[in-house]
Amino acid sequence: MSLTMGGGGHRPPEQGIGGQARSAGTKDLANGHEDASRHRVAIIGSGNWGCVAARLVAFNTARLESFHDEVRMWVYEELLPTGEKLSDNINRTNENLKYLPGIKLGVNVIPDPDLEHAVEQANMLVFVTPHQFVEGICKRLIGRIRHNAQAISLIKGMEVKTEGTWMISKLISNVLGINCCVLMGANLANEIAEEKFSEATVGYRGDGEIAQRWVQLFSTPYFLVSAVQDIEGVELCGTLKNVVAIAAGLVDGLDMGNNTKAAIMRIGLREMLAFSKLLFPSVKDSTFLESCGIADLITTCFGGRNRKVAEAFARCGGKRSFDELEAELLQGQKLQGVSTAKELYEVLGHRGLQGFFPLFTTVHEICIGHLPPSALVECSSEMTSKFPHDEDSAQL
Ligand SMILES: NC(=O)c1ccc[n+]([C@@H]2O[C@H](COP(=O)([O-])OP(=O)(O)OC[C@H]3O[C@@H](n4cnc5c(N)ncnc54)[C@H](O)[C@@H]3O)[C@@H](O)[C@H]2O)c1
Repeated sequence: MSLTMGGGGHRPPEQGIGGQARSAGTKDLANGHEDASRHRVAIIGSGNWGCVAARLVAFNTARLESFHDEVRMWVYEELLPTGEKLSDNINRTNENLKYLPGIKLGVNVIPDPDLEHAVEQANMLVFVTPHQFVEGICKRLIGRIRHNAQAISLIKGMEVKTEGTWMISKLISNVLGINCCVLMGANLANEIAEEKFSEATVGYRGDGEIAQRWVQLFSTPYFLVSAVQDIEGVELCGTLKNVVAIAAGLVDGLDMGNNTKAAIMRIGLREMLAFSKLLFPSVKDSTFLESCGIADLITTCFGGRNRKVAEAFARCGGKRSFDELEAELLQGQKLQGVSTAKELYEVLGHRGLQGFFPLFTTVHEICIGHLPPSALVECSSEMTSKFPHDEDSAQL
């Protein structure tokens, strides 16, 4: 089932997409009182994508009747080199100097370093932190969120626990006892901040109406969002492509050229599909043709941070660690592909299936220094021959 953006309740924006939203409270106080029926949004996270998500959402909450203008954005507090607190700086400049410099967020984005305070009035929670922090954040929020809250996760990654593999949306759902959709897509944050056209996919499980509300909250003329009823497929696409992007970066660092990179991406896509169906047989092939699938894979393998750090890793012959290169090249931004590769390795090892996923397995072994970067292309003929036919892969 596919949903498109609904029309409901638009007010004409007073400024263009690129401009500032109107001042917070203009719409809410228009009738002289607060309207409790309007949805209130909180953004949990304020990194590169977190800030862009806040900006997209704030544009819509300022112009749509069904939302409160104000968007609270939880800021993990850090000190800038000047000694000023990051949240104070965002408040003063309406920009995130560290994670999204040069882009105004919208005056209705209110930075808040107090997590519990940031979410206390919101019934729409947007989770957008690096995945390693989300469980701790959710535990802090137990009993602190509204009873009717809905969540959406923009987070790429997964958690492997003794009791099984947890996608981030499931983790949020289980810890907080709330419904959680996902939004994934070919979304390099800086390009969307510059309002270059792109698309995204909302994945949902049961309630199409709630998915529609998320579509409405995020859609702009330059950011087209559609929804598909395949939450696991959407989330796994967004998560697994980071491992393929590491492989693509290694190919770039080895100067292997475009054909090799295309081959690695094809093999990676096939492993993504097979792994997704291994975990969730309900995953649909068609999801891989949405923005969250092939489009995100392409953009990440050409432009993303995982590709960039992996290229540097291969250029120094694997002599510097991913951690060291991440700190040097990303200035506080976090890589996801290396930890996801480790998690896949554990899941596949537990099931005795590593041999069927040579790309995923080799990427992890390269990342931890057990194999040299060149192992990726040395074993690529094996990758093609060992892999079962597509019709068999669902039965691994
Ligand atoms: N940046 C992109 O282009 C992009 C696009 C799509 C999806 N994503 C996904 O969005 C998620 C968030 O990424 P991002 O780009 O917004 O972040 P980022 O990597 O730019 O920034 C890291 C963030 O983590 C915060 N942080 C650091 N230590 C922390 C701690 N101990 N607890 C909580 N927070 C801490 C930092 O303050 C910062 O806000 C990730 O899952 C990422 O894969 C990113």
